[in-house]
Amino acid sequence: MRNRSMDAELRERARQVIPNGMYGHESVRLLPAEFPQFFKSAKGARIRDVDDNEYIDYICAYGPNLFGYGHEAIERAASAQRELGDTMNGPGAPMVEFAEAMVAQITHADWAMFCKNGSDATSMALVVARAYRGKRKILVAKGTYHGAAPWCTPYPGGILPEDRAHIVYFDHNDEQSLADAVRANEGDIAGIIATPFRHEVFADQFEPGADYAATARRLCDEADALLIIDEVRAGFRLARDCSWAKFGIEPDLTCWGKCIANGHPISALLGSEKVRKAATEIFVTGSFWFSAVPMAAGVETLRQIRETGYLERTDAMGQKLRDGLYAQADAHGFSIRQTGPVVMPQVLFDEDPTFKVGYGWTSECLKRGVYIHPYHNMFMSDALTEADMDMTLAATDLAFEALKRNFDTLEVHPILATRLGH
Ligand SMILES: Cc1ncc(COP(=O)(O)O)c(C=O)c1O
Repeated sequence: MRNRSMDAELRERARQVIPNGMYGHESVRLLPAEFPQFFKSAKGARIRDVDDNEYIDYICAYGPNLFGYGHEAIERAASAQRELGDTMNGPGAPMVEFAEAMVAQITHADWAMFCKNGSDATSMALVVARAYRGKRKILVAKGTYHGAAPWCTPYPGGILPEDRAHIVYFDHNDEQSLADAVRANEGDIAGIIATPFRHEVFADQFEPGADYAATARRLCDEADALLIIDEVRAGFRLARDCSWAKFGIEPDLTCWGKCIANGHPISALLGSEKVRKAATEIFVTGSFWFSAVPMAAGVETLRQIRETGYLERTDAMGQKLRDGLYAQADAHGFSIRQTGPVVMPQVLFDEDPTFKVGYGWTSECLKRGVYIHPYHNMFMSDALTEADMDMTLAATDLAFEALKRNFDTLEVHPILATRLGH
């Protein structure tokens, strides 16, 4: 059994001074007991909890660390800027350089605005879309995560119906549902916001059809509304351009965050020329939005994106993990579903309505030093080596074996049991 005493102590102290001891998606309330809440350090594809237990990491801080933690060249760029200054009276030269790099990289984009988190970027996209023609309605696929702002948070606490007064829901990947929503709000549509593919928690991931993407584009053009793609989670993971470039679809606005500066806090809204005027008419800002260090890290991250084979490498590594897990599950008599792109894997077990089997397996992985998530999509790091993958697959194999051995003792997570009514 791994030592977890420091984590336990911090959790106890946190309960006194932090609501619930922790909040948001990085709270481990819904995770199996083996998952640590507090971390000490991270380097490359490895992460260490406060008790010094090391894990090969498949979460990448929920996305941001595409090139691995503490990437040398990116950290060198960040440190050089930190020596000069970070949060100043105005931005440094890296703001312009980062905007130039993003605009050069993303085909549809002619301008960039920076903020801190993905929710800032998606919320800013709504403001720009409404400023564009003075229309109100934003069409959102039901159950899609776009952040934690009042217009989009999945939890109802403290949120008023008025916060979502002009949000219209349609069924994801359903052209008819989208067309119906457009028709019902004719003349008042500011934009449609979509994620590149469906990546929700506790559910199989799936990619949309090219027809759905084309329909979204056409309906926006007919309504003189804006097509907004929320690339916060998937951006640069599937492509070096927009994720829907493969369908030949150019959006009007795209929201970026998470990995664009490899773990440094910055997000972005990119827009095409026709939206530039609307973007000049809104007022958005934040005390830390113009800090220079994350922008310098972003410039170097973009260089890595342009000049390295990270995309091909993470894809190959993701395929190796997927093939390995299918073979192991099969050999141990389990049936699993691995959905979504291999670079952002989601692993769920068949006939596991309470998720207790998946929870049991990921607990066994954690015990063996592999951080695999039971209900959130994961992320492949470019820092993963072949040796890491071999160690991972050795651990996951033992985890399947232990799962089989302990199958009759598996229990539903207490909070999930309440939620699921079990
Ligand atoms: C698709 C998508 N949009 C927006 C967000 C919000 O980003 P942030 O948590 O940085 O505010 C997320 C976060 O997971 C996301 O996955």
